[in-house]
Amino acid sequence: MKFFIDTANFEEIKEAHSWGIISGVTTNPSLVAKENISFHDRLREITELVDGSVSAEVIALDAEGMIKEGRELAAIAPNITVKLPMTPEGLKACSTFAKEGIKTNVTLIFSANQALLAARAGATYVSPFLGRLDDIGQDGMELIRTIADIFTIHDIKTEIIAASIRHPQHITDAALSGADISTTPFKVLKMLFNHPLTDKGIEGFLKDWNNRNNSEL
Ligand code: E4P
Repeated sequence: MKFFIDTANFEEIKEAHSWGIISGVTTNPSLVAKENISFHDRLREITELVDGSVSAEVIALDAEGMIKEGRELAAIAPNITVKLPMTPEGLKACSTFAKEGIKTNVTLIFSANQALLAARAGATYVSPFLGRLDDIGQDGMELIRTIADIFTIHDIKTEIIAASIRHPQHITDAALSGADISTTPFKVLKMLFNHPLTDKGIEGFLKDWNNRNNSEL
């Protein structure tokens, strides 16, 4: 499973990118709204730094508007992926972009049937939202497993992005459940490094090194 970072904050993207683990970035209108910046300028900055897919979401609700916006977004850089909502209009736009060779990420997926529809419309990625399903007492991870099984049975190449990640256990479980990618907020990515035995081990090694008898290296 690859890591995308789920943020429009450039400092967070730069930091996570410097760890060498980031294969892509996802944004959404709520994340961009927090930043108080020009969306297109931010996308230019991100695509200059990150080689992999950078998802940029359309705002229009009709296919014609989505196609216009999506083409403008795709013109910013070759690694822009146009993010589209899981609606009939979104899928019309998705199938148009598939014919034009523009990558798409169909978002707000909450059922396996939605994922299958999006895949058949030519989506490059589908984004099932784990955390939001968990929030309403449903099993988000079960959805990932079901989509992964369906895509395997039918040899569907659309990649599954586990989205709406809330905590580190979501990452492990998404990887085991067959997600191709997880898109993770910076806060959760940082948590993945932590283990008390790692800290204790470093402390112990340094202590032993500093107490050694031989003063030469
Ligand atoms: C990513 O593509 C989604 O927009 C994002 O993961 C949603 O996360 P949230 O449910 O925490 O807003």
